[in-house]
Amino acid sequence: EEAGAARPFRQRLLVVANRLPVSAVRRGEDSWSLDISAGGLVSALLGVKQFEARWIGWAGVNVPDEIGQKALTKALAEKRCIPVFLDEEIVHQYYNGYCNNILWPLFHYLGLPQEDRLATTRSFQSQFAAYKKANQMFADVVNAHYEEGDVVWCHDYHLMYLPECLKKYNTKMKVGWFLHTPFPSSEIHRTLPSRYELLRSVLAADLVGFHTYDYARHFVSACTRILGLEGTPEGVEDQGKLTRVAAFPIGIDSDRFIRALELPQVQEHIKELKERFSGRKVMLGVDRLDMIKGIPQKLLAFEKFLEENPYWRDKVVLLQIAVPTRTDVPEYQKLTSQVHEIVGRINGRFGTLTAVPIHHLDCSLDFHALCALYAVTDVALVTSLRDGMNLVSYEFVACQEAKKGVLVLSEFAGAAQSLGAGAVLVNPWNITEVAASIGQALNMPAEEREKRHCHNFHHVTEHTAQEWAETFVSELNDSVVEAQLRSSK
Ligand code: G6P
Repeated sequence: EEAGAARPFRQRLLVVANRLPVSAVRRGEDSWSLDISAGGLVSALLGVKQFEARWIGWAGVNVPDEIGQKALTKALAEKRCIPVFLDEEIVHQYYNGYCNNILWPLFHYLGLPQEDRLATTRSFQSQFAAYKKANQMFADVVNAHYEEGDVVWCHDYHLMYLPECLKKYNTKMKVGWFLHTPFPSSEIHRTLPSRYELLRSVLAADLVGFHTYDYARHFVSACTRILGLEGTPEGVEDQGKLTRVAAFPIGIDSDRFIRALELPQVQEHIKELKERFSGRKVMLGVDRLDMIKGIPQKLLAFEKFLEENPYWRDKVVLLQIAVPTRTDVPEYQKLTSQVHEIVGRINGRFGTLTAVPIHHLDCSLDFHALCALYAVTDVALVTSLRDGMNLVSYEFVACQEAKKGVLVLSEFAGAAQSLGAGAVLVNPWNITEVAASIGQALNMPAEEREKRHCHNFHHVTEHTAQEWAETFVSELNDSVVEAQLRSSK
């Protein structure tokens, strides 16, 4: 369905991310079933009507045979998705290795892997080679689908090498790169053996975006201190060429959550949950089971709270939804056992024959169940040790118009910059402080809860995902025009 002559012009947007917004399950030699997963990015772009978006990325499955690849490509085309096929070895070295064992922990201030340093250093080289190779494979697919005038928007730490690969194909391509994680202090980035190459490649983009001003500032100072380039208020300058660097805080499609709460099945679910937990305050955590989310620390704080406040022991329940993620990476496997051990201990200590203080689930919930859960929650606990933005905090706020519950939020989540005035901010490393904040949240007078909620609700409904995407792409278009003007002077 190409834009016909009578239709208004819509710029084509190629969204490139490691993971396509679908989950693909093979049903037969040449048949696939696809499920669209509406993460932040997908719902952001669904709402943006002036672009015709296409997705390029990995479908998350290994498809070694040509028949399977052809069938999947065809099925994905109907969803405007274009696959990049990565074999098992590349996935192991690039995705599990370089992306999730090196860049992810480093960007969240957890450092480079320290066990068996020599082995890490040796495999580092091959993992970085696989990272570059994978990025080149993404670039090949983008290049094959690119048409003049398209905007190419690259996402996240998986694809830092992509802007340079794309510009090598075509210097005129409009390329934006956006990081969904924190960008750490330059002192942290300095420890990365491939520090130069990654910064250089990102700078090949026309516009580089981050969730917060601090991340953008850290990136600029990494470029000045590590590469010796000049930082300006607009970005980074290298021999007269400027790369624009700025903050674009993402949001959610808040209407989608607000509308869902009115559906009969969600109302029914809300009623059931209220009955199930009547007489108890509901506290909620929703996190991928990832070390950056600080789940063990959160559980220890809850344990301390129960220890010190016997009154609350049978009057509060913590529902912790821990969505399994990256389960092939050993660090994530260790975390799962650690969390299970703490949950078991706390339920053993404070549970009774009829009730336990923690309901811990290793699974994801469907959208409607999640909305119902957000709506019945009294206190949400978002205590990430570091987090690029954290949209769970936004989703919770969007579902709280009736209840006006309290958000306890880590000061190390990007969301603290926008919801800080409404939330109870905590240092998640300080168990005593988090335990005290749980008490503060549970005891907060209605008037104060309402005031805080209003502040947050206003922010979440005003600064939506659609607005985020529109702003980034229009700034990218402008940056390219300005660069052309500068170079023609
Ligand atoms: C974070 C990253 C995303 C990633 C998501 C899920 O939010 O910023 O790029 O897609 O985690 O992780 P996964 O490894 O399953 O794609």
